[in-house]
Amino acid sequence: MTKPLLRALKGDPSAPAPIWLMRQAGRYLPEYREVRAEAGGFLNLCFNPAKATEVTLQPIRRYGFDGSILFSDILIVPHALGQKVAFEAGEGPRLDPIRQRSAIPDFDPAKFDKAAEAVYEAVERIKAALPPEVTFIGFAGAPWTVATYMVEGAGSKDYANAKKWFYSEPEGFQTLIDRITEATIHYLSTQIRSGVEVVQLFDSWAGALSSDDFRRWVIEPNRRIVKALRELHPGVPVICFPRGAGLMYEEFLAIVEPDGVGLDTTVPVEWAARTLQPKACVQGNLDPLALVAGGAALDSAIDRICDALAGKPFIFNLGHGILQETNPEHVSHLVKRVRERTAFGR
Ligand code: CP3
Repeated sequence: MTKPLLRALKGDPSAPAPIWLMRQAGRYLPEYREVRAEAGGFLNLCFNPAKATEVTLQPIRRYGFDGSILFSDILIVPHALGQKVAFEAGEGPRLDPIRQRSAIPDFDPAKFDKAAEAVYEAVERIKAALPPEVTFIGFAGAPWTVATYMVEGAGSKDYANAKKWFYSEPEGFQTLIDRITEATIHYLSTQIRSGVEVVQLFDSWAGALSSDDFRRWVIEPNRRIVKALRELHPGVPVICFPRGAGLMYEEFLAIVEPDGVGLDTTVPVEWAARTLQPKACVQGNLDPLALVAGGAALDSAIDRICDALAGKPFIFNLGHGILQETNPEHVSHLVKRVRERTAFGR
């Protein structure tokens, strides 16, 4: 019997629909905050295999999700490439920005693996501890999204430095994207060899680009990664999440050909059912703020998504990561309602 989440990704859905949530391990859970305090900060937690295993398992124990995502961060890749990465409490990530071709780090697999070793060890431990029906999901940031952090040195609203770079010196920026692409293929491949069963590529800031830039910096690197992983690990599904792709979702799917595609909150589910779902398993797309609010609005938003997408290849998720202010009780309610609403397929 194949696991429900894996079955959905292979185009053979079962009822009820599988569910997991992006950022399901995190600060909205009191048990997470406790372990993070013991670890002495976020990066120490990512690099402590026993504690990273513990926080990965916390939402599985509490909610019985169908998918378990490795507890880690997309900024492990810049760190393992040798860039200085820090997380200041309450401020988000800080990196020493890279703004010229000569500052782009080389990719040395041996050095990279040494820096990421604790992540691979966490993967092995989590794999051994997960209940058999739960699918283990590894991940990385997609090159454009990771590049925005590497170039800006922090979160950004407009990605002005990254854009100025690719407009003024596209070959230089291409070198950075190629370097991240190469490292990401290696990193995800090693996660798979260590035990993950599915990988997701987070392109969280894909929606910031014009259509030609989207083709070059989002579609092309995602395509290369999906193709390389499929050659190295046939049968291991890849989910792409080009958040904010909008009118480019269709072209993205046609060229990248992932097994699953994450829908952000703005995607109309009836359109996705007609246009995207025949080509890939769709995943999404509840507004994280509807989950914060709860009540009747949450219920009708859940039902709308389930009614449009369940019974066909579908994984229930949010349209972006769960928010810190989310009441953990609302998550229990969500899981129960999704399972009831999709129990008999359609
Ligand atoms: O989903 C999971 O439970 C797995 C863990 C996970 C984290 N980050 C843990 C985390 C995953 C999949 C990510 C992905 C990630 N990280 C993305 C892509 C997804 C998205 O939300 O768009 C991005 C853009 C990042 C970069 C990042 N990491 C930022 C901007 C921040 C600071 C903002 C914030 O939410 O605090 C982080 C920190 C981070 N990553 C936290 C967690 C649980 C909070 C750190 C803490 O505990 O203090």
